[in-house]
Amino acid sequence: MLHTIRCATAAIMFAGAAAASDLSPVETLGKAIFFDTSLSANGNQSCASCHDPAAGFTSPLADFNAAGAVVEGSVPGRFGNRKPPSAAYATFSPVLHHIDDDGVTIVGGAFLDGRATGKKLGSAIADQAQGPFLNPDEMALPHAACVVAKVLNPADPAAYPVRFTDVWGADAAFDVPAEITARCDGPDAEITIGDEALSARIDAAFDRIAISIARFESSEEVNPFSSRFDAWVAGTGTLSEQELRGFEVFEAEKKGNCAACHVLTPTGREQHAVFTDWTFDNLGVPRNRDNPQGADYVDPGLGAFLKTDPVYAAYADDVMGAQQVPTLRNLNKRVSPDAPKAYMHNGYFKTLEGVVHFYNTRDVLPRCADPLASEAEALAAKCWPTPQFEATMNKDELGNLKLTPEEEADLVAFLKVLDDE
Ligand code: HEC
Ligand code: HEC
Repeated sequence: MLHTIRCATAAIMFAGAAAASDLSPVETLGKAIFFDTSLSANGNQSCASCHDPAAGFTSPLADFNAAGAVVEGSVPGRFGNRKPPSAAYATFSPVLHHIDDDGVTIVGGAFLDGRATGKKLGSAIADQAQGPFLNPDEMALPHAACVVAKVLNPADPAAYPVRFTDVWGADAAFDVPAEITARCDGPDAEITIGDEALSARIDAAFDRIAISIARFESSEEVNPFSSRFDAWVAGTGTLSEQELRGFEVFEAEKKGNCAACHVLTPTGREQHAVFTDWTFDNLGVPRNRDNPQGADYVDPGLGAFLKTDPVYAAYADDVMGAQQVPTLRNLNKRVSPDAPKAYMHNGYFKTLEGVVHFYNTRDVLPRCADPLASEAEALAAKCWPTPQFEATMNKDELGNLKLTPEEEADLVAFLKVLDDE
């Protein structure tokens, strides 16, 4: 929870809100790259494979969402350790920084542990966009040169109505030597570029690719603010009695207290809310026994990343298991009405009812006998499994909200009005 961020967020949000409704050339280029499956080792995976607009820019894949929630990469059998979060509304996360309050509060960055800080390209999501192409568990290309060569010479030119050189200038074009591109199809080639000038051109083009993607991800197409909530805020639509009661539960400190972290920035109802303050918290989410890293896998989140940073390493132990507060937009957006969804960093929860009941009763119900009980099993047995990291869990703002069953239902109804239409 944090209040001091509001001014900074307001400035960024204004830029987003002012974007034109049609895509600009650089946004169009970024969109083509975002949807290009040729940019993966086996030609079978694009950014959109894991961040599908029809699923609220998260994974559309039913089998994964229903179980471990981690999506298989381009190479069969290879998996990361987290559920794909929404790539929409992520643009509003500031460059990673800290605020001195009674301790040190880390704010911003992309990825759930903030490790795409934004310090390289000036934008967290631009830094982020360079990760998946080369991650062996995701798109698994062996070198940035492969990404660059494939964007400069698209496999399917018709999919690129705006070409890289249309945006970045004719002199941005160059040839990646054939002895390099010949080794791009397949994940594990060792590619080193001896020629320093070539290496610098590749790096510069790879940066521009990431910036193009980030521009698409910042466009109004990805951040339309077109939910029923927005229409209600704008005075052009209505919410039902139950949804309005749910909003009150969401907002009130003595009820759900949700807006303490999923803030209604910058000043409340008359502005676009992104429903996060980009801070990090450990909610005590249980293990997901279907995680491909193993049934006992625990996710150290922000703590593990801070350990790698000399400036912040001293604070790492206090935030073990903390994950970034996500947007709550498009929570219920599905590729089909009965398509499974997965919530939280590890997709432990499959229902919004379960999430809300957890916030309400985490510290009230007994611990389940089985520390690996699923959400459905825990709900049936009226218990919650052991948290992944107990010592750093937030006990001040959640865990025993004293909401009635009706208030829980109202809150769930409200969470379902945040889907873009
Ligand atoms: C195999 C599935 C997969 C693919 C392909 C993939 N992502 Fe992701 N994406 C993830 C996962 C998982 C995370 C969270 C990882 C973490 O926090 O460590 C993530 C995180 C993100 C985030 C950060 C959201 C936030 O709130 O921090 C953005 C933005 C994003 N991806 C965009 C992209 C782009 C752009 C591409 C293509 C270049 C891409 N993703 C390709 C799975 C995928
Ligand atoms: C102390 C800060 C905090 C408060 C208060 C809070 N949340 Fe969260 N919320 C988070 C964090 C952090 C996560 C991600 C945690 C994780 O993945 O382990 C999250 C995740 C979620 C998710 C899952 C989103 C997704 O895409 O997976 C939902 C839904 C949610 N919160 C709803 C609520 C509701 C409803 C309330 C009020 C009852 C609430 N939150 C109160 C910090 C908070």
